[in-house]
Amino acid sequence: MSRRRPLPAARPALAPATRILAPTRPAPAEIPAAEVDLTVDLGRGLVLPNPILVASGTFGYGVEYGEVVDVDRLGGICCKGTTLRARIGNPTPRVTETPGGMLNSIGLQNPGVDALIEKYAATWMTWRTPVLVNVAGESVHEYVEVVRRLDGVPGVAGIELNISCPNVGMGGLQFAIDAGAAGEVTAAVRRATDLPLLVKLSPNVADIRPIARAIADAGADALTAINTLSGIAVAPDRRRPLLGNVYGGLSGPAVKPVALRIVYEAAQVVKIPVIAIGGVTELADVLDFLAVGAVAVQVGTAIFADPTLPLRLVDELAIECSRRGMATYRDLIGSALPARTGRPSAKGVEYRP
Ligand SMILES: Cc1cc2nc3c(=O)[nH]c(=O)nc-3n(C[C@H](O)[C@H](O)[C@H](O)COP(=O)(O)O)c2cc1C
Repeated sequence: MSRRRPLPAARPALAPATRILAPTRPAPAEIPAAEVDLTVDLGRGLVLPNPILVASGTFGYGVEYGEVVDVDRLGGICCKGTTLRARIGNPTPRVTETPGGMLNSIGLQNPGVDALIEKYAATWMTWRTPVLVNVAGESVHEYVEVVRRLDGVPGVAGIELNISCPNVGMGGLQFAIDAGAAGEVTAAVRRATDLPLLVKLSPNVADIRPIARAIADAGADALTAINTLSGIAVAPDRRRPLLGNVYGGLSGPAVKPVALRIVYEAAQVVKIPVIAIGGVTELADVLDFLAVGAVAVQVGTAIFADPTLPLRLVDELAIECSRRGMATYRDLIGSALPARTGRPSAKGVEYRP
C-alpha cells in the first residue's frame, strides 16, 4: 500500500472571492491620442502647443533642422544664447564626451541680437511653434538692451534669460548663484518688456529655493531648470585641462538626478510654472519631470544623437495619456511632490545619520 499522503484538495479558484474583496476598477476609457490636450499656458498670452521644447544651444535657431524635423510640431524652440554684440566664442577644444553626457564650453558664440533679428525673425513669424530667444549678458544694462531690441519684434514669442553669466559689476560672480543679483536682473528685464519672461536656473548653487523665489518675486513668468553643471576634463597627456576654456558645462543623462532635485525644490516654493531641462532621452524622463512638478520639458544634448527625438516624445506623451484615459497631460504634473513643503537638500538630508 502506498504511504504517500493524499494530495490536498485543489484550492477553490480565487477569482470570485478576490472580486468580492477588491472590486476591480473599470479600465479608463481610452481617449484618442489626437484629442489629448497637450497645450501649456505659460501666462502673458504664451500658450505652447505641447510641453516638449528644444533647449538653448542644442537646436541652433531652428532653421538648421527644417530638412530633418517638422519644427512646427514642437512645443517651443529656445534658440542659441544671444548677446548684444557678436561673439566668436571660446578657444578650442570646446566639447568632449563624458560618461553619460558631455562637457561644452562654446562660450556663447553668436552673431549678436541685431543680426539675429535680421536673419531669423521673419522665418520664425511663419511658424506656429513659439520661438523663445535665450538672452545672455555681462551686466544688467546689457541684458536690458538686448531685450529692448527684441521687444515687439514679430516672430519673437518670449525671452529665456540665461543668468549663468559673469556679472562684471560683481567681480564676475554669476547672476544665477546670488538671489539678489538674480532678482535684480529679472526685475530690470521685466520693466523693459511685456514679452513672456522665462528665467533659467543654474544647478551650481547650495540652495536653489531663495534664488527661485527672488526670480518669481521679480516678475518672471516661468522658471526653466537646469543649465549645465560646472566641470572640467583633463587632457590625455595630463599636463593641462582638456578644454581651451578650462571649465565646461556638463549636460546629458548624467545630470538628470540633479535636474530632478532642482525642479522638485523650486516647484514647491514658487507659484509660476517650472520647465525642466537635463538629460531627457526618453518618455520616462518626461514623466519623471512632470511628476516632480514641471509643466513642460526641454530636450538638449540628446538632440545631437537624434534630432527627431523631441517630436517622438510629443507623440509618445499623447499616446501615454490616451492609454491612461487622460484628456489632458496636466493630470501627470506634481504626482511625486510632497503634500507639504519638504526639507531642502541644502540641509544635508541625504546624509542625516
Ligand atoms: C552645446 C551646448 C550649448 C549650450 N548653449 C546654451 C546657451 O547658449 N544658453 C543656455 O541657456 N543654455 C545652453 N546650454 C544648456 C542647455 O540648454 C541645457 O540647459 C543643458 O544642456 C541641460 O540639458 P540636457 O542635459 O538635455 O542637454 C547648452 C548646452 C549644450 C550642450
